[in-house]
Amino acid sequence: MSEFVKVARVGDIQPGSGKTVTLGATPVALFNVDGQYYAIHNNCPHEDGPLGEGTLCGCVVTCPVHAYEFDVTSGACLTEPVYRVEQFEVRVDGEDILLRL
Ligand code: FES
Repeated sequence: MSEFVKVARVGDIQPGSGKTVTLGATPVALFNVDGQYYAIHNNCPHEDGPLGEGTLCGCVVTCPVHAYEFDVTSGACLTEPVYRVEQFEVRVDGEDILLRL
């Protein structure tokens, strides 16, 4: 059975920003796009840059290392389509933000 785990609270991430959380041993970049939350693997598939520390503009995060851009709603890389980051299902339960294990 699928299990959701609390990783943050709604007030932890302001609209237009992101945060790095952990899901078990996995680092996850969690973003607030106009009140909708999206989660992708924190490690950039190019050279492991921390996507959770990237700049978010709309639904696009820019990797802080070499500026590759990723759509946080799909995990698609807009700079090099060969790259894609893993996505995680997000659920909001009251004030809690949960990710599916
Ligand atoms: S490590 Fe992210 S673009 Fe190079």
